[in-house]
Amino acid sequence: MNVLFIASECTPFIKTGGLADVIGSLPSSLKKTGVNVSIMLPNYSDIPEEYKERMTLVKTLTVHVGWRKQYCGLMKIVHQDMTYYFIDNEYYFKRKGLYGHYDDGERFAFFNHAVIDVLPYLDEKPQVIHCHDWQTGLIPAYIKTMYTYQPFYRDIKTVFTIHNLMYQGIYPATIFQDLLNFSDEHYFGIEFNGCINFMKAALFHADILTTVSETYSKEIQYPYFGENLDNILGHRKEDLHGIVNGLDYDEYNPQTDPYIFKNFKHSPIEKLVNKLLLQEELGLPKAEDIPMIAIVSRFVEQKGFPLITHVLEELLSLDIQLVILGTGDAEFEHAFKDAAYRYPEKVSTRVTFSEPLARKIYAASDLFLMPSRFEPCGIGQLIALRYESVPIVRETGGLKDTIVPYDEFTSSGNGFSFTHYNAHDMLYTIKRAIEFYHDKDHWFTLLENVYQANYSWEHSAKRYTDLYMKTLKG
Ligand code: GLC
Repeated sequence: MNVLFIASECTPFIKTGGLADVIGSLPSSLKKTGVNVSIMLPNYSDIPEEYKERMTLVKTLTVHVGWRKQYCGLMKIVHQDMTYYFIDNEYYFKRKGLYGHYDDGERFAFFNHAVIDVLPYLDEKPQVIHCHDWQTGLIPAYIKTMYTYQPFYRDIKTVFTIHNLMYQGIYPATIFQDLLNFSDEHYFGIEFNGCINFMKAALFHADILTTVSETYSKEIQYPYFGENLDNILGHRKEDLHGIVNGLDYDEYNPQTDPYIFKNFKHSPIEKLVNKLLLQEELGLPKAEDIPMIAIVSRFVEQKGFPLITHVLEELLSLDIQLVILGTGDAEFEHAFKDAAYRYPEKVSTRVTFSEPLARKIYAASDLFLMPSRFEPCGIGQLIALRYESVPIVRETGGLKDTIVPYDEFTSSGNGFSFTHYNAHDMLYTIKRAIEFYHDKDHWFTLLENVYQANYSWEHSAKRYTDLYMKTLKG
């Protein structure tokens, strides 16, 4: 079975968030189930030179973007046994950063049109096209409308995965005439609230919809999480499946990770070496018995930072160390820098993104805090489990599906969690975690459960394969 993934980011080529990790790791697990996957991405200038050098040109063609005729190069690399295609156009993709340009609507309209036009020139014709997030949302719409009369496209099935419903690709209705290549009768399939909406276009047209956890697939059918699209998702609930993301267990492996101070597996003693050396590196007091709580995240509202800033003083009155790494909204960056300035013995804040430091923090910390307001899946809690740092999460989306709260009576659970989006509920849960941290019988029982957790891709890859089969039969 030939499946083509289409996305706007993918490790190791280009990454801004968790989407890139999924696109960079799920295909190799799918391959093990017998699916032949290739991946297609924009050829951004930010892709490192080592990969650019290895690209070969497959085909050049002219792509229509409304009335414009634009150059498109189809490039290709085979990397670790996987074929990657890149859509090349310097006018649209030779820029710093992936998103946030004034003409993102035009850039991704071009990308979507180009993807459709290059399909006949791939090594193998895809039977299923698996699109990810709004940047690819028009592709299922074109295949199911303008292209259904062309024999090459007629039998291609489309799967669309929602990684985050909050980002939809919303543009003024005028782009319909100006940038898109639909005939008028298809306007209502891609319009929402008087605007063109790339995400809605996909939700309306794709054969199968998926999202990245079972709980999020249910949550988004309600207004609180539905970002205005809850009704349409409710209408499509028979075709909407929640499949939890896995983690690349080879890439994230504390036994072999080259970035951490000391490799370890199921060994609190060796993990402690990482903690002491990180304390030294960050200028925190070297202390074995003070719980180190880690935050590694984008600093945005979605991730629950308003809860943390709301109770920061109370939190810092506890005997803890807080290690914070990430970048994002200025208000949170300031709050955390300020906390580090006022509590140098307790807080270390690094406003940057550094993969090596992130790994050291996962390896060193005792607890990992992720109180998201909503979380389609989340990857931080999975990396934390893998590096034997106990997650404290809010029960939403993928956090709810992967973290089971510790129950001291049955000794079950692999973390701590709270239900309501409330700062003092979070604080109470952190205090509970700290109490158990100091009660070594419970703590070691909890760690045993953490060691048992397995969130690699195998199971979820199988579920995607079953869906591809189902849609091909249907
Ligand atoms: C988005 C979501 C995150 C998810 C990731 C990969 O970044 O916010 O929860 O883990 O996509 O699916």
